[in-house]
Amino acid sequence: MKKDRVLIFDTTLRDGEQTPGASLTANEKLKIAFQLETLGVDVIEAGFPRTSPGDLEAVRTVSRHIKKPVICGLARATRKDIDDAYEALRKARRPRVHVFLATSRIHRKYKLKKAKDEILRASVEAVRYARKKFSDIEFSPEDASRTEPDFLARVVEAVIKAGANTVNIPDTVGYSVPQEFGGIIKRLMEDVPNIGKAVISVHCHNDLGLGVSNSLAAILNGARQVECTINGLGERAGNASLEEIVMGLKMRGDMFGGITTNIRTRELYRVSKLVSKLSGIPVQPNKAIIGENAFSHEAGIHQDGVLKKRDTYEIIKPQDVGFKGSRLILGKLSGRHAFSVRLKELGYFLSDKELDQAFRRFKTLADKKRKIFDEDLATIVEDELAIIPEKYKLLNFEVTSGMRVKPLASVELLEDKKKIRASAGGDGPIDACFKTIDKASGLKGALVDYKVSAVTSGKDALGEASVKIAFRETIVTGRASSTDVIEASVLAYVNAINRLSLRKKKLKGKRRT
Ligand code: KIV
Ligand code: ZN
Repeated sequence: MKKDRVLIFDTTLRDGEQTPGASLTANEKLKIAFQLETLGVDVIEAGFPRTSPGDLEAVRTVSRHIKKPVICGLARATRKDIDDAYEALRKARRPRVHVFLATSRIHRKYKLKKAKDEILRASVEAVRYARKKFSDIEFSPEDASRTEPDFLARVVEAVIKAGANTVNIPDTVGYSVPQEFGGIIKRLMEDVPNIGKAVISVHCHNDLGLGVSNSLAAILNGARQVECTINGLGERAGNASLEEIVMGLKMRGDMFGGITTNIRTRELYRVSKLVSKLSGIPVQPNKAIIGENAFSHEAGIHQDGVLKKRDTYEIIKPQDVGFKGSRLILGKLSGRHAFSVRLKELGYFLSDKELDQAFRRFKTLADKKRKIFDEDLATIVEDELAIIPEKYKLLNFEVTSGMRVKPLASVELLEDKKKIRASAGGDGPIDACFKTIDKASGLKGALVDYKVSAVTSGKDALGEASVKIAFRETIVTGRASSTDVIEASVLAYVNAINRLSLRKKKLKGKRRT
């Protein structure tokens, strides 16, 4: 294999946003897009403009501000979808439309009710139409891995002839296994006469936990673009995770002929944290590359080995993916300037207003906590960036609890501009607070998951609470941090009900066609 480069196509803002429970505002997408640009991705798929006015706006916002990567919008093989993508991408310096149409037998027969020839014709027509508006066109035969190989090859050849410069081969339902998926790519490389005129891309879902393995098998067989997401977010079990593919190629270059990517791997941890914070989807602690336990050594033998020689039990240097040891940096005497300089060093570029907000929180924390670590700063900033409109704002809460008293809470909230209050009992102080918030807001949530973890070290550590709550069939997550874990929990619950109201608002605005 000749030494070359694989393009990294990040679809966190499109397929990643299809993660159950995740939803991002245009502003949140922009914050993530800035970090993706710093990370060095080649393409950002910013959304699916035709699905909702919100998504169209998000793609437009990202197009206006992000300069280096190609900005891509998804479209079905229809003129309306392509027109909306064009509209949304108008201001992009390097726009790309990504047109898709399913080709597999099961999709043709049950979903589209179209014969092979009709699919072939519609694909070619869509690409030809897109050609009038875009010079960069990607085409995806959806469910390609379950498509008859001969028919797949015919579609690929025809869309390249019609003007597609990238052809993406999706394993839409994550059904393929590596030998098979690598074989699909190999066959296309051999059988499609004009294959050299397009970049072959892959898009692997993780239903069998094989998204990354399938993507790597495809690269070995000639694919030169991979579609992936930060933290492996995505529809159902998610997409192939960007950080795992990139580090797999970097660490095992010997197995991939030294093929490279443009990713600055030291940015991986930071972007992962930001995506988790803004999407409300926590990263599992044992997640490869960026999970909190990825560089923790519990067993005595391992600790001893690592102290003697790191490589005994650690294949990646934590710093290479952006993990940093806790470092004392700022205290309560530090000024706004020092604060902003340090944030820039950490890669956070805030507007003046955001910086003011973050600095106020920093000062409050510095009064309570003697030592401020980089992680404290990251938590403060990410909280400030989680721009969920505050329909509900916590004004105050009180809770009594003890061995011989029934826990009782009272909570005061601002709902829009109106003060609301309630008090209620519960099985414990946290339960009492949550029940009281339900009573005050008139919402009825069922707690699905609740976690509290220390995000910083020391007795006065900052605790982060995360909640997952079901409001009928809608599940939302909420997160918050404070030095007081009850306060963090109450704020996390309020954050969740604010996400719920945002979700309801977004749903109302959707005009799925
Ligand atoms: O999984 C899939 O097939 C997709 C396509 C739109 C590329 O997301
Ligand atoms: Zn997908």
